[in-house]
Amino acid sequence: MSVMDRIKQRAQANVKHIVLAEGTEPRTVKAAQMITQQKLAKVTLIGNEAEIAAQGVDLTGVQIIDHTKSDKLEEYANLFYELRKNKGMTPEKARETLLASTLYFGVMMVKAGDADGMVAGAINSTGNVLRPALQIIKTAPGISVVSSCFIMDCPARQYGQDGVMVFGDCAVIPNPTSDELAAIAVASANSARVIAEIDTPKVAMLSFSTKGSAKHENVDKVVEATAKAKALAPELNIDGELQADAALVASVGALKSPGSTVAGQANVLVFPDLQAGNIGYKLAQRLGGAEAVGPIIQGLAKPVNDLSRGCSAEDIVGVVAITALQAASN
Ligand code: ACO
Repeated sequence: MSVMDRIKQRAQANVKHIVLAEGTEPRTVKAAQMITQQKLAKVTLIGNEAEIAAQGVDLTGVQIIDHTKSDKLEEYANLFYELRKNKGMTPEKARETLLASTLYFGVMMVKAGDADGMVAGAINSTGNVLRPALQIIKTAPGISVVSSCFIMDCPARQYGQDGVMVFGDCAVIPNPTSDELAAIAVASANSARVIAEIDTPKVAMLSFSTKGSAKHENVDKVVEATAKAKALAPELNIDGELQADAALVASVGALKSPGSTVAGQANVLVFPDLQAGNIGYKLAQRLGGAEAVGPIIQGLAKPVNDLSRGCSAEDIVGVVAITALQAASN
C-alpha cells in the first residue's frame, strides 16, 4: 500500500472537519465531492452558493458557507480584532478583511473551533495561504516557528523506514537561525511519527561537514542547532552535523560518526536552509524516483496546508487527508 493510501485509510478511521477556503474553484469543488464520497473528512466549502451550484457537481453531504452572509461573521470579526489589535487591527478592518478573504474567514473558523483544519492554495500563493495562519493560529506550544516537510517514498527501500523518509524544511523558512533549525528538526520528527508512521524518528542535521571535518560558520549553525534540538526534545534520536552519505549509508556513517544512533540509518533529514532543502527534495524526486508528498506545513497550533497551483482534484484530496491526520494528533 502506498504512503498516501495509508494516510487516507487512517483519515477515514477518525473523520475530521476540514475547510476548503477556495470554495468556488472547480478542482476544489470536485475534491469536496470525492472527499465526501470516500468519507475522508467532513468538508465545508467557503464561497458563493450559486457559483458553486452552477458547476453541477453533486455535493450531497458537503457544507457550503457563503462567508458574506454567515451569521458567524460578527463573532469572527470580533475575535480577529481582539487577536490582532496590538498589531494595529481595528474592528472595521477586521470585518472588511473577513468579507474580502475566504482565506482569513477559513482560518477564523479553525481558530474558533468550528473546523479542525484548512486547505487552500489552488489559486493563491503560499504566502497568501500561510499569512493568515501565521497571524491568527500561531505556532503549537513548544514550537517557535512554522516550517514544512515532505514525506519522500523512495524506491531504494534500504533507506529510511522501508524507503520512507521525511525531509524538512523544503518550502517555508529561507535562511533559518540555529533556533529555527532546531524547531524544524523537532517538528519534522513529529510529522514523521504522525503522518509517515515512522515510530522511531532518527534525525540527521545535514551539512557539508561530518563531526568537524570542515570548518565554516554555516557548519557552526548546524552544530548549534543540533545541540538546541537535543535540548528541546531530549527523548529524540538526533545527530549532527552529518553529510548526507554519513546520514544514509551504514558503512559511511560507521566510519565518519562511529557509535551514532542516527548516522547510516537516518529517516528524517533536516536541511541547513531552504535552498538545500528545496533542491534536495526535487533531486530525490526527479533523479531518485521518489514520490514526494507535500509540502506539509508543520508547527502550527492547528493545521493549515497549502496546495500547489498546478494541483489536481486528487492532489487536494490527499492534502485534506494529511490535514485530517494532523488535526487528529492535536
Ligand atoms: N513561523 C511562525 N511565524 C511566522 C513565520 C514562521 N515561519 N514567518 C512569519 N511569521 C509570522 C510573523 O512573526 C508575523 O507575525 P505577526 O504579524 O503576528 O507579528 C506574521 O507571520 C507575518 O510575518 P511576515 O514577516 O510579514 O511574513 P510574510 O507574510 O512576509 O511571509 C512566509 C511568511 C510566506 C512563510 C515567507 O516566509 C515565505 O514566503 N517563505 C517562502 C515560501 C516559498 O516561496 N517557498 C518555496 C516554494 S514552495 C515549494 O517549492 C514546494
